[in-house]
Amino acid sequence: MPVESRVLTPEPVATLGDYLRQGGGRGLDAARRLGPTGVIEDLEAAGLRGRGGAGFPTGRKWRTVAENLSPAMPATIVVNAAEGEPGTFKDRAIVRANPYQVLEGALAAAVTLGSDGVILALKATFHREIALVRAAMDEVRAAGWAEGVDLFVVEGPSEYLFGEETAMLEVIAGRPPFPRVAPPFRHGVDETGTAVASAASNVEMAGPEAQLMPPALVNNAETFANVAAILAEGADWFRAVGTDQSTGTIVCTVTGHTRRHGVAEFPMGTPLGEVIDTIGGGTAPGHELMAVMSGVATPLLPASALDTPVSYEGMEAAGSGLGTGGFIVFDDTTDPAAVAQGVSHFLAVESCGQCTPCKQDGLALSQLLDGLRRSESDREALAAIEDRVSTVSERARCYLAHQHQRVVESILRLFPDELAAHVDGRRGAGRRELIVPILDLADGHAVLDEHYARKQPDWTFDDTYSGQSPADRTESSQPE
Ligand SMILES: Cc1cc2nc3c(=O)[nH]c(=O)nc-3n(C[C@H](O)[C@H](O)[C@H](O)COP(=O)(O)O)c2cc1C
Ligand code: SF4
Repeated sequence: MPVESRVLTPEPVATLGDYLRQGGGRGLDAARRLGPTGVIEDLEAAGLRGRGGAGFPTGRKWRTVAENLSPAMPATIVVNAAEGEPGTFKDRAIVRANPYQVLEGALAAAVTLGSDGVILALKATFHREIALVRAAMDEVRAAGWAEGVDLFVVEGPSEYLFGEETAMLEVIAGRPPFPRVAPPFRHGVDETGTAVASAASNVEMAGPEAQLMPPALVNNAETFANVAAILAEGADWFRAVGTDQSTGTIVCTVTGHTRRHGVAEFPMGTPLGEVIDTIGGGTAPGHELMAVMSGVATPLLPASALDTPVSYEGMEAAGSGLGTGGFIVFDDTTDPAAVAQGVSHFLAVESCGQCTPCKQDGLALSQLLDGLRRSESDREALAAIEDRVSTVSERARCYLAHQHQRVVESILRLFPDELAAHVDGRRGAGRRELIVPILDLADGHAVLDEHYARKQPDWTFDDTYSGQSPADRTESSQPE
């Protein structure tokens, strides 16, 4: 199947003028013409699902936010371009190629929901993308696209949780990236009255009666780029590509043990093997693919699953999930225990510690897996691993803990013999597998953010771990 270019242009769009010459701007015009009902119906008819990982139907999300608007205060539109998922680089690729289409989708949301503010949230370390977005915002303002709407860039921390939507709202409100209980459609960027926040039981929720708490709409950058295209071209055009339940295209990233790394856009439903071969050019000569993992959110798929359609329903039917379409490839030189440990270590360190099992069982799991990788474990340790996997997600406030459970569980299920080989002397200590976000991707090569390897579970880079979780540290640093 050919590579598509609906949201990832082959050549970067350098100016707003170029974007307009290529047909840009028609999505925003359509949003003004169609009005809220028409826009939301179009998105529902298109079947667009959010590209931030969970695949939540975009039209339904916009409808829910519309139903929870406050009569007193406008909602805020947040573009999630934090992109902290290991193995994923698609949002930065889209912003580098065409920031205008992302902004157009977000402004269409502002028009639809009567919002007066659009925030584009990226990690502060994304210098190149921040510069591009700021310049694009200047052009868009000058062109009159943003009348009545303030455009902001929020430069967030490097923590993985910054990308979790409620943690992102916390960061925008000036606090650390700790996920909330209330979703963005019930609790937007921040309260305007301090009295409201003085007691947990007193927090006002967004809704038609709310005076101080408007909702926020958070969508991923690729989702907003698709919104602009749908409004410009129509729902039928959008559905002409993809599958019934996964309409349109998906921008995939391929890294790991392939000849090259990269990002490209495919029709939903393209076989996984084709995505990996088209971008990655196969594994190194003499080696075979062992498994593929989409980010650190979904169960691994074995080599026998390469025919799986890259779609929400296809990946789920194969026992995994689509995630952000960031496929990390492992070849036959890989030690599954090291992959499990790499994922476990990343998620345990990145856990904020508001939920004890996520942090404590997560760290214990990472340590147990490290012992296994070093072949220093016995059968009892394997049982202890199973035990911690079963408890790590208990009472979890956000999805991170479930990710931990799902990924490690899948490795235990897929590679029992390889793991057992570490305890019965058939396999020696294996090298560590670094599972961390991508720093940059250029010339067919992804540079991993090795900085993460030194990060302590309290989110410092101190030589030793304080024993406190990030949530504990924040609490103990609050004045009495
Ligand atoms: C631990 C964690 C990290 C996340 N990181 C990101 C991220 O970097 N970018 C993103 O768009 N969504 C991320 N998400 C998903 C968001 O919470 C949210 O579902 C998404 O922004 C919604 O947009 P969508 O409906 O357009 O997909 C993350 C979720 C979790 C649990
Ligand atoms: S599940 Fe983990 S990462 Fe999520 S809020 Fe709880 S402790 Fe924090």
